[in-house]
This record gives sequence, C-alpha cells and structure tokens, in this order.
Amino acid sequence: MKFDTPAATNPIDQMKVVGKPTVRIEGSLKTCGRAPYAYEHHDAVANQAYGYVIGSAIAKGRITSMDLSDAESAPGVIVIVTAANAGKLGKGKFNTARLLGGPEIQHYHQAVAMVVAETFEQARGAAQRVKVSYSRHDGVFDLASVRDLGVESKEQLADSLHGDFDGAFAAAPVQLDATYTTPDQTHAMMEPFASMASWKGDRVTVWTSNQMIDWSVTDLAATLGLPKQNVRLISPYIGGGFGGKLFIRSDAVLAAIGSRLSGRPVKVALSRPLMINNSTHRPATIQRIRIGANRDGKITAMGHESWSGDLPGGKVERAAQPSQLLYAGANRRVTARLSVLDLPEGNAMRAPGETPGLMALEIAMDEMAEKLSIDPIEFRTLNDTQVDPVKPERRFSQRQLVECLRTGAERFGWSQRHRQPGAQRDGRWFIGMGVGAAIRANQLVKSGARVRLNDQGIVTVETDMTDIGTGSYTIIAQTAAEMMGLPLDKVVVRLGDSSFPVSAGSGGQFGANCSTAGVYAACVKLREAVAQRLGMDVLQAQFRDGQVSVGDQHLPLGAAARTGELVAEDSIEFGGLNKQYVQSTFGAHFVEVAVDSATGEVRVRRMLAVCAAGRILNPTSARSQVIGAMTMGVGAALMEELAVDKRQGFFVNHDLAGYEVPVHADIPHQEVIFLDETDEYSSPMKAKGVGELGLCGVSAAIANAVYNATGVRVREYPITLDKLLDKLPPMI
Ligand code: MOS
Repeated sequence: MKFDTPAATNPIDQMKVVGKPTVRIEGSLKTCGRAPYAYEHHDAVANQAYGYVIGSAIAKGRITSMDLSDAESAPGVIVIVTAANAGKLGKGKFNTARLLGGPEIQHYHQAVAMVVAETFEQARGAAQRVKVSYSRHDGVFDLASVRDLGVESKEQLADSLHGDFDGAFAAAPVQLDATYTTPDQTHAMMEPFASMASWKGDRVTVWTSNQMIDWSVTDLAATLGLPKQNVRLISPYIGGGFGGKLFIRSDAVLAAIGSRLSGRPVKVALSRPLMINNSTHRPATIQRIRIGANRDGKITAMGHESWSGDLPGGKVERAAQPSQLLYAGANRRVTARLSVLDLPEGNAMRAPGETPGLMALEIAMDEMAEKLSIDPIEFRTLNDTQVDPVKPERRFSQRQLVECLRTGAERFGWSQRHRQPGAQRDGRWFIGMGVGAAIRANQLVKSGARVRLNDQGIVTVETDMTDIGTGSYTIIAQTAAEMMGLPLDKVVVRLGDSSFPVSAGSGGQFGANCSTAGVYAACVKLREAVAQRLGMDVLQAQFRDGQVSVGDQHLPLGAAARTGELVAEDSIEFGGLNKQYVQSTFGAHFVEVAVDSATGEVRVRRMLAVCAAGRILNPTSARSQVIGAMTMGVGAALMEELAVDKRQGFFVNHDLAGYEVPVHADIPHQEVIFLDETDEYSSPMKAKGVGELGLCGVSAAIANAVYNATGVRVREYPITLDKLLDKLPPMI
C-alpha cells in the first residue's frame, strides 16, 4: 500500500480497541519468566556449547602474539576463535569497527578471541589462560583536544547556513554565547548482548537480541560471506536496546563463527564489564550556542555548533539538528564537526542528536529568557514557528508545542515559580522549577506484515518487527483487532523472526506508527479476501464483533476460512508527505527540584511531560515509554557519564556499579499528558512515536530547575554536586 496522500477516515478511527489503555499482551509471559530472552533458548536446539568473549586490553595497536596453548588444554575447551581461524570476514554496513579484531586493534575491548567450552564456567576459566601480547600505538582520546580538527559530515549533518548569522548576532541588542558539554553515555539496557547460533549445512540460525532484524540479517550475511537467505535471525523478546541493539554486535558474529568451527550450537552473552567498551555508546559533545534577540524577545540569530568524535569512518552526533526546526529566526548557523577519536565506537542512543542537542539548547533558551526578563515559556512561545524556518513553504503537519507548554504550565503550577533564583526554600533545601521544550522527528519507514485468518476466527499477525520492551506486541494486536472487528484475545502476534515480512523495526521512535501501518495494510488485503470468500462487497462489509455483515446478512469472520486458512500480506510504503510537510513530535517537560543547601545533592521532586505526538495507540504503554524516558533524562542530567581514561583510551566505569543510573528511590511522582492529536500525514494510523520524545528536553528542564533553585548555572553535564557545592548561596 502506498501512503502518499493524507489518510482518509478508515476503520482505525472507530477506536474501539486502538487508543484504549491496554496492558501488554505478552506481559504475563515476562513477569512469569516464560518469555525466552536471547540467552534462554535452552530447548531450541540440542548440545549447546558456551562462548566467552575476550576483549582487547589496549585501545590502539596490534596483537604481536597470542598464546592459546594453556587455554586449549583447559577442561572442557572445544575451540578458541581468533582472527587467525575465523576465516575471511566481510564488514557489514552499520558497524564502524570490526566485530572481531586482530591483529590490528581499533578500540579497547574490541573482541579478539572467544573460548568455546562445554560450560560457561569452563569457557570463562579458560579465557583467563589466553595470553595476548600487544604493541601499543598512540591514540587520540580527548575530544576537547581535537575538536578544532573536526570536519563537516555532509551525509550526516551538512552545515545549515541561512541569512547573515554573524551580522545579525553582532547587531542583536541581547546576546547569549555559551558552551555546553554532554558526556559519553552508555545504553545500560537490562539484557546484555547475547546470541546463540546453530548451523545446518551452510545456513545459520541466530537467536539474538536485536532491534532491527532485516538490517542485522544483511550485516551478518555480509560479515560471514553468506547470501542473505542463508541467515535467519530470531529475536522475539528484547530486554531493552535504546539504540545499542540496532546492529549486530560481536556476540552474534562470534556465536556464528564459534558454532561453525565447533560444529555445535554456541551461545554467547557479553559480560557487563565487557559490553560497555565492546559495543557502541552515545558520543560526548561540545556545543556552542549563540542566540541573538531583539529586546521584545524575538530571535534574530540562532547559532548552534556541535563537536563530537568517533573512530575513523564513524558518525557525527547530530546534536545541533533540533536547532534547525525548534524556533523561528531569520539568520541561522547550524553546524556539526566530527573528529577522529580512538575511543570505542559511537552510535545511536535513544533520540540521538536531539537528546544531547536539547540538553544544551534548552538551557540556552532559559539563559536567554533570563537576559530578556521574559518568562521562559513566553520566550519559547514568542519564537514558535508553524513552518520550517529555512523553507517556509514547508509547514509542520502538526505542531502543538505552544499548547504543550501552556497545558503543562497550568497543570504543573508554573505560576508558583519564583522568577528570582534561590528565592524559594524548604527547610535546608533550595527549591526550583524548570521547563524544557521537546522536539523529535517523525520518520516514515516502509513496513510489512502478514496476517492469517483461521476457521476459528483467530487472526495471526507475523512481522519481523521487534518489541524492545516498548509494547509493539500490544499495539499490533490492537491494530489487527480494530481492522478485523475482533476482541484483542482473538489476535495472535508473532514478532522478531526474519522469516516474517520485513518491518520498519524498532528505531528512531518510528516503530509504533510504521509497523502498525504495515499491519493495517495487510489487514486491508485480508478484509478484501474475506469479503471475496463470503461473496460480499468489501466496501459495504462491516467487520465487527467477530462477524462480517452486509445489511441483514451476518457471518462469523472465521467462516471465510472454512475452506482453508486465508493469508494476506502487504507493506506500507511512504511517499513524499514527510518532504512536503515537516513531521515532528513535540512536548514540554516540567520539573521541580530540591537542592540540599549543605551538600549540593539534587533531588527531583515532581515531573510532568506533556506530549503532542499524533494518535496515541495505547495510552498505557505510551505512558510507560514517556516515564521511562523521563527517568533516563534524570540520569542524563544528574548521574550518567562514561569517564574517559585519556591516556589509555577507554571508559573506566564500564559496569553498572561505576556507571550510575537512576533507581526507584531517585524518581518522584511523574505525570504524563498526551494532547489530543491525530496526524493524517503520518500514516493511516494517524499516529507518531513517543519513545524518544519523552527524553528530549527533560535533562535541560532539570538543569533549569537547579538554576532556579540555586542560581548556579551548570553547563557541563552531569550536574553532580561537586559542580554546585562551592557556588551555593548561603542558607539563611
Ligand atoms: Mo533508536 S537510538 O534509533 O533505537
């Protein structure tokens, strides 16, 4: 189905199932431990062996020798995989560094070997007996030291220069010129990277934990030198990904190679201390923001320059990107520079670009509002735009940013905020409120599905879409139920298998809208097939309550499958509606914090997110997505930072003891409001995504609240107490 004109009224608009708060249909499997995660397919294939991955002890250089003899004679060892016996490996499209290193080493903890043994303990034990000698080369590990060597990355974020930024900024009566930094961050998902591989002839099946099945089949096939059809990926349940599992990692490749060499199915999980340097991370940024405005608060110059680093051939963090669209202003300069670093590979992490970008921009907007003596919400409202500021002929398909801000202000009690920083106290605590705006792109990605109807009136949906904890199973079931006129329990959903039609996958918050739109397309075909079997006119047929009706004629849906199962398959293919219109989601975050006047400890007291993100398919799981993202925003604001060893070139705190993320006790009352919105430009579902939107702008709202509480402006995340302690106002 081609989607290139705005969606008309369709069966989803009935909203009998779609749009209803619905608990996740696979929830009980998960809470009872019966949903098998990647490492838990214990019965899928017999005679499983265990792999244990060894990471490089240096960041850059060469392996000069590997002594495997001691390890090979250790109990239970079957084979040790290294670059020497792995065979010729190709390189997939999505990884920057090779997933099995050696002899050349590209980054710390790059996989250099995997021991395969009868048990996990034997594999781990033997791994300690592998002796690797290295020749270490100098590397570059400090972004600040090389930022001026950064180059434009045209295919990722080309410079956007509009009007006369320098002239307008120089002439502006009110100016802000400030630099902000965000640190490297790790995804810290619950489920580690894990895979099990098993060969039959020249075909390999890999059970894994992966967000994008088709990308990863493509990359695994390219790496192993196989035709794509010889690779099957199965990933039905995923314990979080946040972008870290968009691509195959070393576990999948090494499981496949280990299995080929040993003739056994091999399962591999990366240990937590290995995976943070072995896999990808959100790259650190340095961001200079310059805003010029008239005294009445209208922005005349908007400048956002961002610097980040990655391995050779890697990607820029597009932190400046949100400044292209969030606010009006005639003269603009938005740039990104990429420097070569020899740290582990940078890549996407939840709302890549927007997350670090808004961490900076939305502090800058707060600072600018203060310089102008305008309320921060009014300042943002004054500079709202309903069109692309650079291409005014492109309007936003929907843009309710101002409504998000106003609704939030009302609900949060913004009028209680003291404009003067440090003016509100509660015992030993300084109290403050902050706001941050959110924008995140609505991307449209082709997505397919197959639907089957049996004679019992059960509809089964099959698509390689994944559920990374987001609720895909449930919204897909809701979609099929709505389309076929069934209750939810008559729909079976099967996901995460490359033998199913290719979906959009879980990335960039596009999964919900695109994958359900693919199911919609397949169900349109199934409705046609049903009507044809029953001798009805599909345009007149009503699908409701498990029946198909035309006038007085009512037949059970299952009757259409009496002579054999009905199968329909289709995909949604998006035309140019996202070029004609800017498609984005919007939100506003409100935060109240308390800062301990003696210790500088920051406690978040209240949080509210208001989101405008198209039709909300399932308010229950959408809310979970947003509160999860808000929680992640607390981590980004106050805790999370991969500490870089700038001499040796690795992330020092590479486990969950050293890398701090929020726990329940850190998180207060959180409220989420979804504005009523349907966007007929996004898909027949009229939905968008919220999974990443919820993280956009929230950390800046916390930073702004800390400033409002204390008068201390921290521009270097995370806002740890050492950055506050010697600057706090005296307690009366
Ligand atoms: Mo997202 S960072 O595209 O999983």
